Amino acid sequence: MVKLKGSIKISGDKSISHRALILSAMATGKTKITNLLESEDINSTINVLKSLGVKIKKEKNIWVVYGNGTCGFLEPTKALDCGNSGTTARLMIGAVSSNPIRCSFVGDKSLSKRSMSRVTKILEKIGAQVNLTNYDYLPLIISGSENLLPRHHIMIKASAQVKSSIILAGLNIKGKTKITEKIKTRDHTERLMKYLKINFKMKVLKNNHTEIELNGPYEIKPKNISVAGDPSSAAFFIVGALITPGSAINLKNIALNPTRIAFLKILKKMGGKIKIKKLKNSCGEDVGNINAEYSRLKGVVINSKLSPFLIDEYPILSIAASQARGKTIMKGLAELRHKESDRIKSIVINLKKLNINVTQVKDNIEIYGKKIDLKKNKTIKTFGDHRIAMSFSILNLICDNMLLIDDVNCISISYPKFKNHLDKLLN
Ligand code: S3P
Repeated sequence: MVKLKGSIKISGDKSISHRALILSAMATGKTKITNLLESEDINSTINVLKSLGVKIKKEKNIWVVYGNGTCGFLEPTKALDCGNSGTTARLMIGAVSSNPIRCSFVGDKSLSKRSMSRVTKILEKIGAQVNLTNYDYLPLIISGSENLLPRHHIMIKASAQVKSSIILAGLNIKGKTKITEKIKTRDHTERLMKYLKINFKMKVLKNNHTEIELNGPYEIKPKNISVAGDPSSAAFFIVGALITPGSAINLKNIALNPTRIAFLKILKKMGGKIKIKKLKNSCGEDVGNINAEYSRLKGVVINSKLSPFLIDEYPILSIAASQARGKTIMKGLAELRHKESDRIKSIVINLKKLNINVTQVKDNIEIYGKKIDLKKNKTIKTFGDHRIAMSFSILNLICDNMLLIDDVNCISISYPKFKNHLDKLLN
């Protein structure tokens, strides 16, 4: 039987990479970015920024961005293609909205089925003009303005993308843009803004709501950025080590942002032998190493309150649950239906194929762990979803490679080096 052994450095974090590029593009002058994730989603952001007149080039291993300022985007001569990337679309729609330019945004088949009105409704309220397909989808056209209104926005949905979209718009809005978040979401934009010394206020109120207050327009001074490793990518190998007997791995340089590592708490609660060592703070983010070794896992109940902090990790957590003793219940997964695929469906269909007892009850998934014993190959349907492809590639470690993943190419959306890193740990 295979096992995972050794130490690797995980690729740069996807959420931080998008933000490093966009905030550098909105600064005035030159920023060098190291350890930027090189993946299809990040390419989408690079290409969209280039089409908006931002010069970006790679010199050796360093990406260099020549920012034109918070009001420096030029009207593009072609549609801005966001590919598969929801983060590119939602963040960039916000970023261009407070510039006096007209932009059309397009995306691939999957992205064209994902809601954009969650962002544009807010931007329309403050004066942007937007035309969406079927009132919700890409392709869309947005006419921005330098005179968008400063306003207090109260976030109803927990979404870091929507929050970041308003923040990026607010950087070039005259006056006070205020955002109240009832449920905290990943805060990479705010951390990077602090690192860049952008003068904004942030406080946690008595009722635990977070309030962010910007007072634009801003001139952002460029500052070099180093991107920490992606905890969501690390999650695949961590679960791989936990379920594969004899494994012990060490993953280096991982972002330990509290809004991103709730999955480690869950895996520890399941009995996972995981050690986290915080080493430094880099560009506003805590960074450290993670050790994980084979463990006998047990089922747990995962409260719906945690869902914003586990949103990208449910597919790999469901793999851990499939190999745990007893029942795991993952609650409050409604938002999973709006990801790169309907992830509730993608998880349930594929685990069922492997004779795992899995049921979907409304927005919850229940999984009874069981040893998988396959007599013949089974095809896993990824629905073009990178996280489904990687999750079942990990399960394949204990299935003697009997799982045929229908589309492994989609992995390059977030982690082109996945196979290479997995092979390193297998040696
Ligand atoms: C992201 C936010 C999350 C996450 C996505 C990346 C971000 O989406 O699922 O992969 O970088 O802001 P939501 O904002 O829709 O929760």
